[in-house]
Amino acid sequence: MSLPSHLQIAIDGPAASGKTTVAHLLAQRLKVLYLDTGAMYRTLAYMALQTGTDADNEGALVRLWEQASVRIVLDEMAPLGFRIVAGGDELDEMTLQSKHVTAIVSTIAAHPRVREAMVQSQRHIALEGPVVMAGRDIGTVVLPLAHVKIFLTASVGARVERRATQLRAAGIDVSLHQLAREIEERDRLDRERPFSPLVAAPDAHVIDSSEMTVNAVVAEIATIVERSR
Ligand code: CDP
Repeated sequence: MSLPSHLQIAIDGPAASGKTTVAHLLAQRLKVLYLDTGAMYRTLAYMALQTGTDADNEGALVRLWEQASVRIVLDEMAPLGFRIVAGGDELDEMTLQSKHVTAIVSTIAAHPRVREAMVQSQRHIALEGPVVMAGRDIGTVVLPLAHVKIFLTASVGARVERRATQLRAAGIDVSLHQLAREIEERDRLDRERPFSPLVAAPDAHVIDSSEMTVNAVVAEIATIVERSR
């Protein structure tokens, strides 16, 4: 892989650590493109539910992704900061964050061939221009030569609070207890999978945001980006 010609910023971290909020705001501040790769795995999970495809059937999932020709358009005017169009419909936050999607997404994301297809699209998208990309394996696998890599963590308690606020704002009902269990289970699946597990890249800046505001995290990353130039 040759050195990236555009600025690439990778933001990885566990469930509900604030990656997407921070990545989106940072991209706006730096006036660069933004993509939340979790939304791509969630889109495939949604399509699997729609078509009755088994979350354990790797071959069928890969075919589903390839045949659906999902369009991902980086568009700062879109509510999510990008658009995902599958089967002619633009998917919104309520659909992507639904409990049913969340319940199977990490099982789907553990399949090596599913990940290969996603990573290929993500690298292709990164060629469009300077970008902030959020996910689990951006600094380790997708953009290993990214100029700046951030691994954003927070305590489970802080993450549960943040996700509850986000889901309630999107009109999704949640129980804090259930949310904590779901977040811990997804962390376990993401960390323990053999292929591209969730882990900080050796050259990532680790930021524990438990006690930090979103703006403070964005400002800290912006300073790291400034120093790296
Ligand atoms: O928003 P949250 O951090 O809870 O999750 P997400 O970023 O929407 O990702 C949903 C799931 O997709 C994760 O739990 C992972 O299983 C998977 N994922 C992944 O494996 N690799 C990525 N680059 C992004 C997401």
